[in-house]
Amino acid sequence: MPQISFDSRAILIDQQRILLLSGSIHYPRSTPEMWPHLFQKLRAAGLNTVETYAFWNLHEKQQGHIDFSGRLDLAHFCRLAQQHGLHVFLRIGPYICAETNFGGFPPWLRDVPNIQMRTDNQPFKAAMTAWVTRLCDYLRPLFAPSGGPIILAGIENEYGNISQHYGAAGIRYLEYCRDLANSLHLGIPLTMCNGDVPGALTTHNALWGHGKLDEHYAKHPDQPVLWTENWPGWYDTYGYARHLRSTTDMTYLLARFFAGGGTGANYYMFHGGTNFDRVSMYLQTATYDFDAPLDEYGLETTKYHALAKLHHLLAEHAPELLAQNPPAPLTLGEKQLAFTYAPSSPNPLTFLCNDEESAPAHITFAGESYDLAPYSVQILSGSRLLLDTAQLDPAHIITRHMEPLATLPPFEASPEPLPAHRSAGLAAPEPLEQLRLTQDRSDYCWYSSTFTSTAPTTTLTLDGVADFVSVYVDGQLHATTATPLVENRTLQDHKDFTQTFTLRLPPGHHRLDLLCCALGLIKGDWMLGFKNMAEERKGLFGRALIDDQPLSNWTMHPMLQGELTPPSSWTHFDPHNPSPWSPLWLRTTFPRPDTPHPLALDLLGQTKGLIFINGRCLSRYWLLTATIANPISPFPPMTPAGLGEPTQRYYHLPQSFLAPHNTLTLFSELPTPAPTIQLCRRI
Ligand code: GAL
Repeated sequence: MPQISFDSRAILIDQQRILLLSGSIHYPRSTPEMWPHLFQKLRAAGLNTVETYAFWNLHEKQQGHIDFSGRLDLAHFCRLAQQHGLHVFLRIGPYICAETNFGGFPPWLRDVPNIQMRTDNQPFKAAMTAWVTRLCDYLRPLFAPSGGPIILAGIENEYGNISQHYGAAGIRYLEYCRDLANSLHLGIPLTMCNGDVPGALTTHNALWGHGKLDEHYAKHPDQPVLWTENWPGWYDTYGYARHLRSTTDMTYLLARFFAGGGTGANYYMFHGGTNFDRVSMYLQTATYDFDAPLDEYGLETTKYHALAKLHHLLAEHAPELLAQNPPAPLTLGEKQLAFTYAPSSPNPLTFLCNDEESAPAHITFAGESYDLAPYSVQILSGSRLLLDTAQLDPAHIITRHMEPLATLPPFEASPEPLPAHRSAGLAAPEPLEQLRLTQDRSDYCWYSSTFTSTAPTTTLTLDGVADFVSVYVDGQLHATTATPLVENRTLQDHKDFTQTFTLRLPPGHHRLDLLCCALGLIKGDWMLGFKNMAEERKGLFGRALIDDQPLSNWTMHPMLQGELTPPSSWTHFDPHNPSPWSPLWLRTTFPRPDTPHPLALDLLGQTKGLIFINGRCLSRYWLLTATIANPISPFPPMTPAGLGEPTQRYYHLPQSFLAPHNTLTLFSELPTPAPTIQLCRRI
């Protein structure tokens, strides 16, 4: 059975150094039917490893009920990878960040008494130990010492981002993480990204891997430099522009990292895929395209081809790269360096690097002159140019689009009843926090009370509320939360969890119904102003004030009626006659289209809610226009795209979710949906 180890230079398989060329594909973000194709593309791109997190939040949605079926069949995913000649780098977490609901923790964890996540806290460690043990037992045959493809195991994730808030308890927690992994005898090296604990390899997540090299050599001279997250783009959030990263930026920084001595790099993501169901983090779009080399639909992009060429070249020259310690660079200019491998061979391998962002460089190396584009690397064998990262092969420039296939038949509609028309809810003097009522089985919870207005204008203040609220007074929709929402909020001073609405009402007694929509749970402490993740709150968890007077006597209706009992009476949907508006269920049917291409729904003209296909939740949707260019500022290498358009217009509908005849259902939370939608194919 293969033995996996490491030395100061690289990961070793059976004592042989390897160049780790890896790409992330998260199994729940595609379908088992897509996996063989994705692995084949990953392999064809010259990569030798697939990396994935394990998603505890999906495997154990209900405490004690573990699911490894369908898209969650991680063992099948690993076996298929092995059949495609790939190693697997498993990031166990179980804290994984990943723009997934609750950073990978199951929401029920929040309800464990006295729990604090990611620190030296007994209830948390007990739950983590149980899950990690269960996961590793399940995967036991798939670790390399048993003949499986898993060669590396990552534990925790970027603890460095929050460690200052946990001090000595945080250090004890990291030691616990390492000891837990060791106690499971996985027989492969353990890694930890952006967080240090003796006994685990320290790896790096960064926009520029080469920026980490010197620090790594100084701090960890006994460990190879592994770049666990190389970001080809970024995730998207509703109401903000998309984040794109250029192909030549990617080819430059990958070549530059290996030039300087890196021996392992992983694209986060190589295929980003789709956030199906309701499992994305707060505000995260259903698409997780990430501007990755394979697009959301698994199709090749320009970036894919350019990087593939570079991977093949690096793989071909792995023996020279791995045979020696990183060479000392030769300085050719202020920001121009040359790194030469196998210097005494007839054809040494040289990387000529221009680290100047905006200016080309004219340099002389070994008696020859070279023109280097800004931020570029030229790779030479002797004096022969093998590859210039700034040059893209015109034959491999790919543009893709959505082609409409069919307008689906007009919708039928069924109203979602307002609370006044539902059976008695849960009564309490004060509003009850939403997750306590829903356990996150739904995004929705109604909060109802009454009040008296005396002036023509009334101010409603919700002090302690999340995330998106529709305000109904006397059965009519009066206001909704201002957009775009802010990704990172602060719980401490309530400012980011306060919403104010001005209501124009006739004086008198009124009924108030608030439909609170939770848009996904946070992914880390910093999304609550560095409060522990256990503090996550949804719905109305504070006070509601009418002109500064707190309201009392609340009734809560957790979940939509249509989620509890599917709507039974449907009528033709007339978008011009929805008076007064109430949230709606819309449905239509359509046959499976006769095309092998990936499919998407064009939801332009719809507003916000949930999509269901044949009864299963496909994803959330929101056609919110992108009005802000960059929520993560400054973020230099990303280019904003799609300002003035909905952040997400097309929603991936995997072929395997379809039957010969299909029912598409939308929950429409906000007014003015269009009467029809388009089915498209990605070409
Ligand atoms: C990293 C994190 C990943 C993912 C990524 C951003 O910091 O480790 O899980 O969240 O950022 O997309």
